[in-house]
Amino acid sequence: MLEPNDLDLKGEFSDVLFITGLLCKGRSDEDVEQFLSMSEVNFVEAEQQIDAPGGGKLWVRCESIRQAKKVQAIFHQQSFKGAVIMCRYELGFDPETGKRRVSRNSIHTTCIRRVQQRRGENNNRNKGVDTHTVPANYSYRSLSIGEMEYPFPSGVYLARLISLVQKWPNRTDDPLIELVSNNYIPPNAKKKKKNQNPSSVFGNRYAKEITESMAMVDAVERAMKLCLGRSTSSFRLSASTNRNNNVCVRVYCVGDGKYPVSAAAMALNYPYPGWEFISIDPLLEPLDIDNATNDPEDNHHHNYDRHRHRLVQFTGLSQDYVLPDLPAAFTTSSPDESSSSEIETEYVDVVVACHSHAPLQEFWDRILERIHSRYGSSCRAIAITMACCANYSDITQPPSLVFDDYEVYSPKRQIRIYNNDNLFCPQIVKEGRKESIKSNTGDRQASVK
Ligand SMILES: C[S@@+](CC[C@H](N)C(=O)[O-])C[C@H]1O[C@@H](n2cnc3c(N)ncnc32)[C@H](O)[C@@H]1O
Repeated sequence: MLEPNDLDLKGEFSDVLFITGLLCKGRSDEDVEQFLSMSEVNFVEAEQQIDAPGGGKLWVRCESIRQAKKVQAIFHQQSFKGAVIMCRYELGFDPETGKRRVSRNSIHTTCIRRVQQRRGENNNRNKGVDTHTVPANYSYRSLSIGEMEYPFPSGVYLARLISLVQKWPNRTDDPLIELVSNNYIPPNAKKKKKNQNPSSVFGNRYAKEITESMAMVDAVERAMKLCLGRSTSSFRLSASTNRNNNVCVRVYCVGDGKYPVSAAAMALNYPYPGWEFISIDPLLEPLDIDNATNDPEDNHHHNYDRHRHRLVQFTGLSQDYVLPDLPAAFTTSSPDESSSSEIETEYVDVVVACHSHAPLQEFWDRILERIHSRYGSSCRAIAITMACCANYSDITQPPSLVFDDYEVYSPKRQIRIYNNDNLFCPQIVKEGRKESIKSNTGDRQASVK
């Protein structure tokens, strides 16, 4: 393996990238070269271990950590000739333990799936089949027609929701849980007929709506790892009483709909101290969340019971929503109170536009202006969009990542991730083809060369 020359253990970054999935059976040197050329970077050096246990491994050294970050964002979870590539930072060996350090934060476990050539084709499979018919088959997560494999939802987001709901104590009278579980009955809902219960808010659209919101939850985790190099769970107040850090993360769900579904899904998934969730929509009918608190004395359910849901519900246009103040720098005293020091708050704004009709550019401009004017580069902003129609969610800057989330039960499933630091805006590369994003006119257009 290549040992890193430049190592940032706090962020778990290095100048060396560790790539798996690329060197597999039947792969030629030309294939490897073709893959590496997708980044348009000249690597300083490369090293292969063809017969490594668990599959071949490849290390490439970049000129700097900065360059490695760009390449990692392009390569990680890229689909190449039927294989999903994993690309992590090589962190070398810990001199104290002699063990190899493993990078965790930059790795998002939900794979991006794509329409692709079927793998492991058995040449005899189609023997005796009428050549005018195309064989079709399906598995639990994809449909195969001829040589092509088309991903379809495996239901992973619904499975995650079931397990999430189980984690919450006092879930029977929590309106957020009721909403995401399709049990919420609005207070003004009328009974349809005698002896017939009023229907829940989604009707038969529940599965579709919840996969959309859970896709946004997943995209927040992916975006934080991609753009900030850290998982969501690392952004939280320190458990120690002397609080050696201060964290504020605000998640704005613009165009959230009549009920705050995405904001509720976020609040339940990321119940971390220092996080706030804001649902914004002119049609919003706020949930009564006064009673939606869990017992603060019960410490058995780590993270899930120590505070009320921090859900803010704003009925109005996103243009009329006044952004809350940024938190002041946090001052801490030493134990003997002889000295005090200021610790800057780690601040992240996350804007989520799930099939939203709110004019996102206006909201994003305000977010950026505020962050840059007050804090400079130490505060960060991320925008995540899944557009349904028209161009409400277009932003005039290149996205950091674009992909289709096939776990969403809707054809409008393209997710785009943006952030305030252009460092993490690699050109998008798809299956060896380059998709160039022209953003200089403000009229963004994607073209495949
Ligand atoms: C297609 S619906 C999507 C609702 C929900 N996010 C979903 O996925 O089911 C679009 C939403 O955008 C909201 N909307 C339209 N203009 C808006 C604005 N200026 N600010 C905030 N929301 C807006 C509408 O009220 C509507 O609820």
